[in-house]
Amino acid sequence: MNELPGRHPLRDLRVRLKRARRIVVFSGAGMSAESGIATFRDAQDGLWAHVDPMQWASEAGFRSDPPRVWAWYEQRRAAVRQSEPNAGHRALAAFSARHPGLLGIVTQNVDDLHQRAGSTEVIRLHGDLLADRWLEACPHAEATDAAQAPACEVDGGTPPRCRHCGNLRRPAVVWFGENLPYDALSAAEAAVSDADELLVVGTSGTVWPAAGLVVRARQAGAHVVVVNPEPTELDDEAHLVLTGTAARLLPRLFDPL
Ligand code: OAD
Repeated sequence: MNELPGRHPLRDLRVRLKRARRIVVFSGAGMSAESGIATFRDAQDGLWAHVDPMQWASEAGFRSDPPRVWAWYEQRRAAVRQSEPNAGHRALAAFSARHPGLLGIVTQNVDDLHQRAGSTEVIRLHGDLLADRWLEACPHAEATDAAQAPACEVDGGTPPRCRHCGNLRRPAVVWFGENLPYDALSAAEAAVSDADELLVVGTSGTVWPAAGLVVRARQAGAHVVVVNPEPTELDDEAHLVLTGTAARLLPRLFDPL
């Protein structure tokens, strides 16, 4: 059963954070909303409110029109490059700098705003929007005569392709139907299992297996707090729900503990 929040939930939570042995922040797209990066499911501005995710975020969608899908990712990359970490990202990074080893971040976000704010302990569950990788495993890698079969090499193009075999580059993000990177998911499971405080910031909690980390943390004994301006699928897992935005609430929680 959830605890009833005290009369001063923010102040009480600050006390808990001060005493915590290990804090994990589990972030989603809302974490970056005040940096100007669109979320996925917000009714007005969410990316998936306007386009079909299976067209833009699946291997089949990419293969059906690689130049078009690549161009869409280039637009998203440009938006991330032009953005800056917000007060929420900065509050977490500053707290980590003051208390090394106390706070870790597990993020579903594919931007680099936690890292640019200065956070170093960041586990990325859904990949890296600013990176790309080969669509196919390099067909030359298994060739018996390496001299005859050079490894894939990027040529120009939209998307860039291999000058030898035409293999395409694709964004290094996790698409629908794909597994999360094994190392990242394992590290995230270990991190949340060891947390005594879990802050769930800016995620709708609708995408699994990422959302399952919150259930795991609670089962392992963490005190779970949701920070979000709207209700989420994970509110029932939380001991405390703080209604508000990341850039407004995180500084109030972490500055200057
Ligand atoms: P969603 O778009 O599903 O949810 C964004 C959440 O952020 C919502 O609950 C909003 O209420 C909340 N929010 C909006 N503005 C906020 C603010 N300023 N501060 C705090 N919260 C705010 O995004 P995710 O939950 O991250 O997958 O979506 C999960 C995954 O679905 C994403 O990682 C992506 C997407 O398909 C991949 O890229 C693989």
